[in-house]
Amino acid sequence: MEVKLAPSGAAALKVDALVLLQPEGPGRPDLWQSLASSYTSGEIKGKFLEFTLAHGVAGFAATRIVVAGIGKPGKLNTAGMAKLAGAAVRFLKGKGVTSTALGLEGEFATAEFVEAAARGAVTGNWEPDYLRTVREDLPQPIAEFAIVAAGPALERAMERGKILGEAANVARDIAVEPPNLLDPVALSERARAVANAAGLAIDVLDRDRMQQMGMGALLGVAQGSAKPPVMIRLSYKPATPSSDSHLALIGKGVTFDTGGISIKPADGMEKMKYDMAAGAAVIGAMQAIARLKPSVAVTALIPAVENMPGSRAQRPGDIVTSLSGKTVEVLNTDAEGRLILCDAITWAKQLGCTHLVDAATLTGAIAVALGYSRSGVFSNDEELAARWLSASEAAGEPMWRMPLDDEYREQLKSVYADIQNIGTRWGGACTAAMFLKEFAGDTPWVHLDIAGTAWLDEAKPWLAKGPTAVPLVTFVNFVMNWK
Ligand code: BES
Ligand code: MN
Ligand code: ZN
Repeated sequence: MEVKLAPSGAAALKVDALVLLQPEGPGRPDLWQSLASSYTSGEIKGKFLEFTLAHGVAGFAATRIVVAGIGKPGKLNTAGMAKLAGAAVRFLKGKGVTSTALGLEGEFATAEFVEAAARGAVTGNWEPDYLRTVREDLPQPIAEFAIVAAGPALERAMERGKILGEAANVARDIAVEPPNLLDPVALSERARAVANAAGLAIDVLDRDRMQQMGMGALLGVAQGSAKPPVMIRLSYKPATPSSDSHLALIGKGVTFDTGGISIKPADGMEKMKYDMAAGAAVIGAMQAIARLKPSVAVTALIPAVENMPGSRAQRPGDIVTSLSGKTVEVLNTDAEGRLILCDAITWAKQLGCTHLVDAATLTGAIAVALGYSRSGVFSNDEELAARWLSASEAAGEPMWRMPLDDEYREQLKSVYADIQNIGTRWGGACTAAMFLKEFAGDTPWVHLDIAGTAWLDEAKPWLAKGPTAVPLVTFVNFVMNWK
C-alpha cells in the first residue's frame, strides 16, 4: 500500500473514497447539507467505528465520502486512531475502491495521530490468504492511502507509521505460514531475508554449534523432531550509541508445538503453528529498528525448534543441562518454551546484553488469567517494567503486570536437578515466568506472555483474523525511547 501525505484541501482530492471524522454530537457543517437526512434519521450518530458511505457528495471531488464515527468528542487517542484507519481500509475493501484518503483536521493534525493512522491503515490492509489460489472472491487490497493533514514533522511521522505497519505485516507474513512450510530453518531464512534487506548482521547457530556451546535445554526439546533446530541472532549497532546499554529482544520460535511425549489433545492442535509468533514479532521489530535507527545496540535472539514426539524425543523425567550450567528436570515436555528460552536468555547475557526482554506464547494459563485482550508482563526490575508498560500504552498493545513472588519458586523445586520445568496447575503463567527469572538472574529483564494475544480467532473491524504481530509496536517504541 502506498501511503502518502496530502496537503490540506480534502475537498479537492480526487480519490475513490475520502474518509472524514465525525464525533458524536452535531453533524459536520461541510456534510450537513448533502447528508441532512442521514443525520436527522440517526443513521449517522458518530459512534466509534460507525461508517456511512455516500456517493457524489456536493463540494467534494472524491467519488465517495465515508463518514467515520470517532465517539465522544475528545475521546479518540492514538490507539483509537490506528484502529479507525484500519477499520476504514477494511470497510472500503471489496467495494471497487483503489485510492483512499483520510482527512485529519484540527486536534488530529499532529505527528502522533498521523503516525497511528499510517500504521493502522497498513496493518488493516493485510490478509492471511496468501495460499489461496482461487482469488476471484477475495477483496482486492487498497492500493493508496493518503493522509490529508498539514503541519510540521508530519512527513516523518507518516514514514514512521508506515515502517511500523510494514514491519507488523512482515511479522504476520511469517507467523501465518503453516508449520509444514515454516520449520526452524525456514524461519531463519525469513530472518536472513529481512536482515539482508535491512542491513542487519545475522548469525544462525546450527545443532553442532549449540552442542559445543552447551545449550542442552534447547537441544532436548529439538531432539524429537526430524527438523533441525536453529538459534537465530540479529544484531543492530547504532552509529553513535547514546549509552553503554545493550538491549536483547528474545522471541520464542517453536514452529509447531505438539506437546512432545506429553502430547496435546488433537482438538485445536493446529493452533500451535503460531507458537513462533513472538519470534516473528522480533524479526519484524528488527526490520523497523534497522530503518528507524535508534541510538542503542539491540541483539535479537530467536531460539527455533519443532516440538515433536517420536522415538528420539525427550521423555518426562529426563534431566538436561542448560547453557547456564543449571540442570533442569523435564517433567512435562509440553512446557518446552521455557526450555528453549532459558538458553537464549543465558546466551544474551554471555553476549553482554545489559537489559533483556523476552516474548513468548508461553502458557494457556495467561489466557485464563487475562483473556485475549491483554498480554501478561513479568519483570525483576521496577524501572524496566515501567518503561516497558509505557511503551505498550503508546503502542495500543494492552498489557498487565503479573506477580513474581518468591513463593512461586517453591513449585519448581526438584529433588534430582536444580529446577523442574513445571509447577502445579495453579498460577501456571507465574511459575513459567519464575522459571525464566532463574536464568535472567540479576540482569534487568521483562517477560511477556502473549499466548492469549498473538492470534485472533475472529477478525476485528481493524484487523484480519490470524496473527496480530503483538508485541512488535511495543518492542520498537521501547527501543526508540531508550534513554
Ligand atoms: N505453546 C504452549 C502455550 C500456548 C497455549 C500458546 C495456547 C498459545 C495458545 C506452551 O508451550 C504450552 O504448551 N504450555 C503448557 C504449559 C504446561 C504444560 C505447564 C500449557 O499452557 O498448557
Ligand atoms: Mn507446549
Ligand atoms: Zn509452546
